[in-house]
Amino acid sequence: MGAEVDFHSGINQGVAPVTYGQGDRPPRGDYATARADYTCEQNWGAYTAADHELYRRLYERQAAQLPGLACDEFIAAVGELGAPAQIPRFDALSEKLMRATRWEIVAVPGLIPEEAFFALLAQRRFPVTGWIRKPEEFDYVVEPDVFHDLFGHVPLLFNPMFADYMQAYGAGGLKASRLEACEYLARLYWYTVEFGLINTPAGLRAYGAGILSSAGELRHSVQSPQPQRLGFDLERIMRTRYTIDSYQASYFVIDSFQQLFEATAPDFTPIYRRVANAGELAADSRLSTDRVF
Ligand code: PHE
Ligand code: FE
Repeated sequence: MGAEVDFHSGINQGVAPVTYGQGDRPPRGDYATARADYTCEQNWGAYTAADHELYRRLYERQAAQLPGLACDEFIAAVGELGAPAQIPRFDALSEKLMRATRWEIVAVPGLIPEEAFFALLAQRRFPVTGWIRKPEEFDYVVEPDVFHDLFGHVPLLFNPMFADYMQAYGAGGLKASRLEACEYLARLYWYTVEFGLINTPAGLRAYGAGILSSAGELRHSVQSPQPQRLGFDLERIMRTRYTIDSYQASYFVIDSFQQLFEATAPDFTPIYRRVANAGELAADSRLSTDRVF
């Protein structure tokens, strides 16, 4: 896992950095100041004027695309992030979120290990990356940055049902670690929290953070004839591989956040066993049992 970490030097021992994908990319973010649970200070004063300006441009481009593409719950809550002129202060945003759904956001240096991530979610603490992308990454950044984490994820944490789903996911993750089923649970996160679509009377809308924070994939996921859109099916999703560096070949559609919460409430232990036996599916696979939108 790369860089040296000194575990014997007293304060600020740091934690091992985490890299994306196969680990062939250098880690981004400063892990030396992170606590054992991977949280750190946001260090708001260290953002430059150029950082705030980049955030504002990202925010405004994305906000302009939301009508007709983002779900109502997201649009209703995105204003809670405050004025786009500056990167929000996490502590002020946490106060609002705490009042709304008893969630808070905590700063992290970047990607964190699965177990640390699950543990924070189970405590209703959402980890938000401190750093912002470089200007040349305006259109696309592989690792999640502060814009993706805040703009993509935080608005729906203001929705009570979705907020409860996220906590349940964290608790479920700790259990999946013990059952060695994290890969299946990661697919559920990917196809719901990151790339989920929801069926509404007005048509399909996005609720996944990966698409809501993406310049191109938001419209693509909702309107392009290219990808397939399939009805939410828990075991089907757990079997389906995904790609981290291209638009998704398949999106899964929920009918409501209530459906998502209820479908994921049962004990997954026997489900993981069935999924392991059923085998993996390619990202663009189509089954006769799929409900196609
Ligand atoms: N019900 C799941 C289990 O027993 C936990 C979970 C809930 C996982 C919601 C994901 C989302 O493992
Ligand atoms: Fe994300």
